[in-house]
Amino acid sequence: MSNYHIKHLEEYYQVYRKSVRNPENFWEEIAEEHFLWRKKWDKVLEWDFSKPEVKWFQGAQLNITENCIDRHLATRGDKTAILFEPNDPNEGAEHITYRQLYHRVNKFANVLKEQGVKKGDRVCIYVPMIPELAISVLACARIGAIHSVVFAGFSATALATRINDSDCKVVITADGSFRGSKTIDLKGIVDEALEDCEGVNTVLVAKRIDSDIQMKEGRDLWLQPLLDAASDQCKAELMQAEDPLFILYTSGSTGKPKGMVHTTAGYMVYTAYSFKNAFQYRENDVYWCTADIGWITGHSYIVYGPLCNGATTVLFEGVPSYPDFGRFWDIVEKHKVNQFYTAPTAIRALAKQGGDLVEKYNLSSLKVLGSVGEPINEEAWHWYNDNVGKGKSPIIDSWWQTETGGIMITPIPYVTPTKPTYATLPFIGIQPCLMDENGNELKGNQVEGRLCVKFPWPSIARTIWGNHQRYKDTYFSSFENKYFTGDGALRDEVGYYRITGRVDDVIIVSGHNLGTAPIEDAINEHQAISESAIVGFPHDVKGSALYGYITLKDTGEYRKQDNLRKEINQLISDKIGPIAKLDKIQFTEGLPKTRSGKIMRRILRKIAEKDTSNLGDISTLLNPECVQDIIDNAL
Ligand code: WTA
Repeated sequence: MSNYHIKHLEEYYQVYRKSVRNPENFWEEIAEEHFLWRKKWDKVLEWDFSKPEVKWFQGAQLNITENCIDRHLATRGDKTAILFEPNDPNEGAEHITYRQLYHRVNKFANVLKEQGVKKGDRVCIYVPMIPELAISVLACARIGAIHSVVFAGFSATALATRINDSDCKVVITADGSFRGSKTIDLKGIVDEALEDCEGVNTVLVAKRIDSDIQMKEGRDLWLQPLLDAASDQCKAELMQAEDPLFILYTSGSTGKPKGMVHTTAGYMVYTAYSFKNAFQYRENDVYWCTADIGWITGHSYIVYGPLCNGATTVLFEGVPSYPDFGRFWDIVEKHKVNQFYTAPTAIRALAKQGGDLVEKYNLSSLKVLGSVGEPINEEAWHWYNDNVGKGKSPIIDSWWQTETGGIMITPIPYVTPTKPTYATLPFIGIQPCLMDENGNELKGNQVEGRLCVKFPWPSIARTIWGNHQRYKDTYFSSFENKYFTGDGALRDEVGYYRITGRVDDVIIVSGHNLGTAPIEDAINEHQAISESAIVGFPHDVKGSALYGYITLKDTGEYRKQDNLRKEINQLISDKIGPIAKLDKIQFTEGLPKTRSGKIMRRILRKIAEKDTSNLGDISTLLNPECVQDIIDNAL
């Protein structure tokens, strides 16, 4: 028997050692015993970080949906696979069994085929958190089409950029979405985006809010009649281990978003194995991850990881504040949720409401609490532990990234003793290291540096869609032969890791990664603006919020107009999405620059953090005189 399910600390250390001493044997054993292969691999691993190139299970053939669905039919056909909890609690939950999921995915896959979608084609999915979202993802995987899910909170411009970057011919969407007491006109956003997407010839529209929308003749089709007419049998496409499974965009510190490419076999093996252990999932548990499938957390730990293990996974359409701030706990009680996985920003927002709303509900089903997406501060950790977990459910503070595909550093609940704000130990097979700025590895404990990974793991992204050079430059050129995460971290006296935050120009706002450059580009399009610089500052709910320093072309005239702040945020909403709006906007006479003309963000960051005691030597700046003025007028 391989070590598929780790149950105590000694076993963790033993399995961990095995996984790093002989990774190929280790992953081969896991792959061999726990998945359905149409053909086994010829070679477990081939890699070279200098190219960079990583290939797992070469020669193997499989389809991930047979692993997520078909193989459970015999033993779990009537078990709930997806438990859909709608935005409006009065609408009632929907239990989709594995058998029903099988039929619905097959029907959807046949619809895609009828629309001419073939293996390797890219399909953009811009759908709210309704069952069709998970089903469309799986339908693409069934026929070997590469899905590119775009979070349904992104703007038309952001959607168009992503559709064009990966050349999607088909877009799947809905007439609209429910978000708390609001509805959002998703189809309208798609229509606007498609004005700039010549390559799209088909739009499949799910009905959700029943609004009166425009359907473009020859392009737009209602999904339901097509599904009704389609066969519920669809042979799974035979995929090679390294065939792309999906593209998912993530923000970079510069330029356009990066389409991270994940491939089939390694991604499947790692997400399934990490799900089982990081959540200690047991048969008949009800597992709930509150993320949106539009992000990697939803891909790996709402859809693929849980379904591969035959789990029941909750899919929640709504928001934590609707109808009131007790909604999460209401759902936990109603569905007797055993594992609950959310983001620190949600925890802080709920903590702000006090403990009363938690007390009203019976949360005794909870066994494991998870946190992901940004560093969890000590206060939020304790609130979560005391009020939600009642001190008995371990919190797994799990660190990972869109690029890593799966959880990388995390306590294993009931196995690894937890420590507030620490992601603790590397997961099985993961070899992290800390580097100093000169490229030396920091050995031993009680050190702090840049977080890298030394050895490939099965679910590492293989490239950036259409730009392998950027993949190499971003992740493999800072430190020789290492994957660089963009995060800083420290290792304590027992070897536990604590993630200290981004060391590049990515700012995490409410758990969403935002690159500063695209926001600045959006702002600079305003006719009154000459230049801008965005930095993060601490925010009690969002973790970080955005502070914009903006210089106007013609000072004075515009400055008095509060409208300008609104216009700037509107521009950001239109170009990127409301999540990227600035909390603070300061108009400045100039921005501090180095002699080579680069904006000194370090200084602006300190001012935004209200820490001006030690700005360092500013005399070497091109324009040191502007600094005092910025400090005097800081918000
Ligand atoms: C941050 C989300 C501290 C980190 C799965 C990383 C975290 C970025 C944690 C990736 C954590 C994620 N503690 N920071 N537990 N988890 N991060 O791509 O900066 O949306 O690089 O993937 O989020 O965000 P992404």
